[in-house]
Amino acid sequence: MTDISKSTSCTGAVDVVIMAAGKGTRMKSKLPKVLHLLAGRALVQHVVDTAAALQARQVVVITGHGAIEVEAALARSTCATAQFALDFVRQEPQLGTGHAVQQTVPVLRDDGIVVVLSGDVPLTRADTLQQLIAACGGTRLALLTIDFADPTGYGRIVRQGEVVQAIVEQKDASPEQRAIKEAYSGIMAVPARHLKAWLARLDNKNAQGEYYLTDIVKFAVADAVPVVAHKIVDALQVAGINSPVQLAELERAFQLRRANELMEQGVRLADPARFDVRGDLQCAQDVSIDVNCVFEGQVSLGEGVRIGANCVIANAVIGEGAVIHPFTHIEGGKPGSKDAIEVGAGALIGPFARLRPGAKLGKEVHIGNFVEVKNSTMAQGAKANHLAYLGDATVGERVNYGAGSITANYDGAFKHRTVIEADVHIGSNCVLVAPVTIGAGGTVGGGSTITKDTPPAALSVARGKQAVIANWKRPAK
Ligand code: UD1
Ligand code: MG
Repeated sequence: MTDISKSTSCTGAVDVVIMAAGKGTRMKSKLPKVLHLLAGRALVQHVVDTAAALQARQVVVITGHGAIEVEAALARSTCATAQFALDFVRQEPQLGTGHAVQQTVPVLRDDGIVVVLSGDVPLTRADTLQQLIAACGGTRLALLTIDFADPTGYGRIVRQGEVVQAIVEQKDASPEQRAIKEAYSGIMAVPARHLKAWLARLDNKNAQGEYYLTDIVKFAVADAVPVVAHKIVDALQVAGINSPVQLAELERAFQLRRANELMEQGVRLADPARFDVRGDLQCAQDVSIDVNCVFEGQVSLGEGVRIGANCVIANAVIGEGAVIHPFTHIEGGKPGSKDAIEVGAGALIGPFARLRPGAKLGKEVHIGNFVEVKNSTMAQGAKANHLAYLGDATVGERVNYGAGSITANYDGAFKHRTVIEADVHIGSNCVLVAPVTIGAGGTVGGGSTITKDTPPAALSVARGKQAVIANWKRPAK
């Protein structure tokens, strides 16, 4: 029997340990495995976010291969306002999962429940882990398990009657043990004080010469600490990623799940298999989305919004009844910032339109093909229907902005603003050299290069006068 400290009782606080030191050889990538993206987020970030959802007190990430990159990425993404303490411990060399968790002993408190997760198992649900934590209850060793038709490669849950006796690794298992279908998921919840005592007793006398975390089950049994298996049926929640094929499979499974959730809310998806959300998509009633659309960051679609095929939409709020025609790219900046994009109710955008950070379009604005809008506001009813650029512009109500016209907003060093007041008509192929203001109700003749402010209600033309030479004879051979 180990001397398990009786002095510290468990407070029930949750401390999460994330194993992320492994190499990920089969990814065949320079990028550390846990930094590969699933649904637009690093694998290990999914796990950290789940820990946050558990209201963890502390999150300890065990790094090894690519440690500097992994630590930098997580430190960057975990803002200063995070509710938990984030710690890193290095495991070099990697001598097994037990050895990995041994590295966390100096930074782990004694009074918590430790939840052990893997950085390459991204889709475990927080409510599943809450149940596992409840099964631990601060006194028991709780293992997350699952029955597999083919459990090859996994540690098997060995029971005597119903009582869990051990986890036996594939390579150490007898033929009878290999026939066991119940597998250890790699996830456990364990009182810290027990974990620390058991980790000190691990050895590497096994088929792989590794320190197995799973050997602590034997010590629990020996110490008469109850071992409980919390068995789930949803394989997605325990699926680990080792190769690009597995990454793509899990991505599709995850996306299909998101698609089904949205369809259950009433969203019409032309094809749930050709639909990707890499962030958070909110949809009001009667939204329809055609094939091959990608949503990134935070996107909100108002009632009755229609999204055509092949659109990429990031960080945007699309007002009710707006239609985004095919092949439109909307790339808003940080959600909630001045760079996020707004599209007003009833607006028509595209096909082949490009909205860049800071595009704020009012109600019933029309943006047509090959029109680019950046850091500009367009008031209700303004239109730019063909081949145009609006950068750093303030556009009034009902303005009509002609084909091929641009704001020359950049002088090589600084950006300047163009103001186009209400009811202006800008002809085709105009250059508005900023800073410049086009007065309300004015008209700018096609082909004009406007360098000075124009008065309201005036026709302004700034181009070479048309010359006419009568009876002109073309050269002949
Ligand atoms: C482990 C379990 C096995 C379980 C399986 C579930 C052990 C001994 N076996 O198997 O019972 O069925 O997970 O997937 O725990 N890692 C480190 N340092 C190391 C070794 C691993 O950080 O020295 C990390 C890996 O990067 C990975 C995780 O630990 O994120 C699991 O390692 P992996 O090699 O996949 O576990 P297995 O030995 O296959
Ligand atoms: Mg392995």
